[in-house]
Amino acid sequence: MTHHQVELTVNGSKVSMQVEPRQSLADALRSQLGLTGTHLGCEHGVCGACTIIVDGEPVRGCLMLGVQAEGAEVLTVEGVSPSEGLSPIQEALREHHGLQCGFCTPGMVMALHHLFTITPSPSEDEINEAISGQLCRCTGYQGIVSAAKAVAQKQRENRSHDTTVNGKENSCRSA
Ligand code: FES
Ligand code: FES
Repeated sequence: MTHHQVELTVNGSKVSMQVEPRQSLADALRSQLGLTGTHLGCEHGVCGACTIIVDGEPVRGCLMLGVQAEGAEVLTVEGVSPSEGLSPIQEALREHHGLQCGFCTPGMVMALHHLFTITPSPSEDEINEAISGQLCRCTGYQGIVSAAKAVAQKQRENRSHDTTVNGKENSCRSA
């Protein structure tokens, strides 16, 4: 089987992969780069477990071929996780019982990461819309939505705190 060399950026680092023409990007990330946080469930675009961000957009990693990723910027769940501990989304999922077996969780995290990137304080409707393509077979969605709402609430509080602090700084400067 012929392999193709693909150069891309994954989680901020330039990498090179040797992929078979038929190999999905999710499979290549897992087998070539050891990034096994991206899960493969249905492998035909239904479950969302393989969701990654490619050039700023959420993508089903099982529906994109590795060879199509030439020159792309790819973000996986490893790239949004701190080297120690959990990201705010991951922490909220843990606190709000947003996972059981965890198989869907990397895809959920990536879908929510994209939502919070484009909409820092999303409404419940926006949260539901963002995860509408992610299937969870065991937890149910209530805990996942609660977790996302908690992150959105924290973002709102941080923003209003920043506004207050900046307002005080401005009034000091103008005084
Ligand atoms: S594994 Fe890609 S959508 Fe299910
Ligand atoms: S936590 Fe098991 S599939 Fe979602």
